[in-house]
Amino acid sequence: MKILGIETSCDETAASVVEDGVSILSNVVVSQIDIFAEYGGVIPEVAARSHLEAMMPVINKALADASCSWDDIDAIAVTHAPGLLGSLLIGTLTARTLAILHDKPLYAVHHLKSHVYANWLNGGLSEMASLGARRSLPSPRGSRATTRAAALRTPFDKPSSDKPTFPLLALVISGGHTQILYMPGHNQFEIIGTTYDDAVGECFDKVAKILGLPYPGGPSIAKAALDGDPNRYHLPHPKVEGLDFSFSGLKTAVLRAVQKELGLPISHPSHDLKNHLSSQQVADFAASFQKTAVDILCEKLKIALDMHPDAKSVVVAGGVSANQALREALPEAYFPIPALSGDNGAMVAAACYFEIQSGVKPVDPYKLNIYPRISID
Ligand code: KG4
Ligand code: ZN
Repeated sequence: MKILGIETSCDETAASVVEDGVSILSNVVVSQIDIFAEYGGVIPEVAARSHLEAMMPVINKALADASCSWDDIDAIAVTHAPGLLGSLLIGTLTARTLAILHDKPLYAVHHLKSHVYANWLNGGLSEMASLGARRSLPSPRGSRATTRAAALRTPFDKPSSDKPTFPLLALVISGGHTQILYMPGHNQFEIIGTTYDDAVGECFDKVAKILGLPYPGGPSIAKAALDGDPNRYHLPHPKVEGLDFSFSGLKTAVLRAVQKELGLPISHPSHDLKNHLSSQQVADFAASFQKTAVDILCEKLKIALDMHPDAKSVVVAGGVSANQALREALPEAYFPIPALSGDNGAMVAAACYFEIQSGVKPVDPYKLNIYPRISID
């Protein structure tokens, strides 16, 4: 079964053809990062306009790269929630129109589900790098963020099987979400932990701003951290019971630590601090922050595993799952191939395939709605 997956929930215009939920025949991602680096963040109206321009060329390239005509496509899958309203609209309106025009069944996929299903996709598409996929980063110096690894419960003697097995725990970490999900089986999601405030990716982005590192903050912090000492600055862990998270306090802790390091008062404007920091201080703050964020995620996962001893696999998903320090801290967990950690169409097609296997029915292309804030469960 060949599914065309379409993703436009934020600032990536993406389309992909995937066979039977696991084999990527094509994967085209046009990122708007260059546009938004200038502004330090996404401007929703600009994102929607850029999707409009890129959408059809991206879909046509995905079909051409997969050597598919419309006759070869069995279904269309599109992200309909959650995300930026204007961005979701462009993807879903395109998918609805194409479904009607080419008489294909249309499936609506939740963005976080699709991130989780990136873990079922096979790697090995060598052209991926040239198709706008993101680079993975080399190991951080000393890799001290790995200290928590041994603390996680085994029996995940590194992915024993090629694919994750159920029941499983999924750590979904992106720019908009930080959740731990319990999945008894395919397409079954129970939220067992979530953030009270900022998502961890958002925290990377905000800390990067304080340090004067470019948008998006995750990759630039990871890069700066390579030259930094993760133990130079001690940052407190938020006191949140159980499996929930809070990341806004960590951002403020970095802010206060930078002000203290520079001998400036807490009233000193955050946007000016970068002008006073040396590159070594930036690297040390990046490394110390990254280590703290990774430690917090690992600690919560460990609690989740203690509470769900039946879990047979741990999968990590979402943009922050590209983080190399986190990957090294969780050697027994499944991660998507780095190029598929961020937003892409292949994961939408994969999630759709497993939804169909679970009995999910197509939606009416004349009626499909978007839901910018709806939860996964
Ligand atoms: O999943 P995603 O591409 O978009 C959303 O659904 O939000 O996630 C984007 C987030 C951003 O906050 C970005 O800074 C973060 O993922 N990110 C990273 C890394 N690469 C991207 N965070 C930490 N380390 C990375 N290497
Ligand atoms: Zn995402």
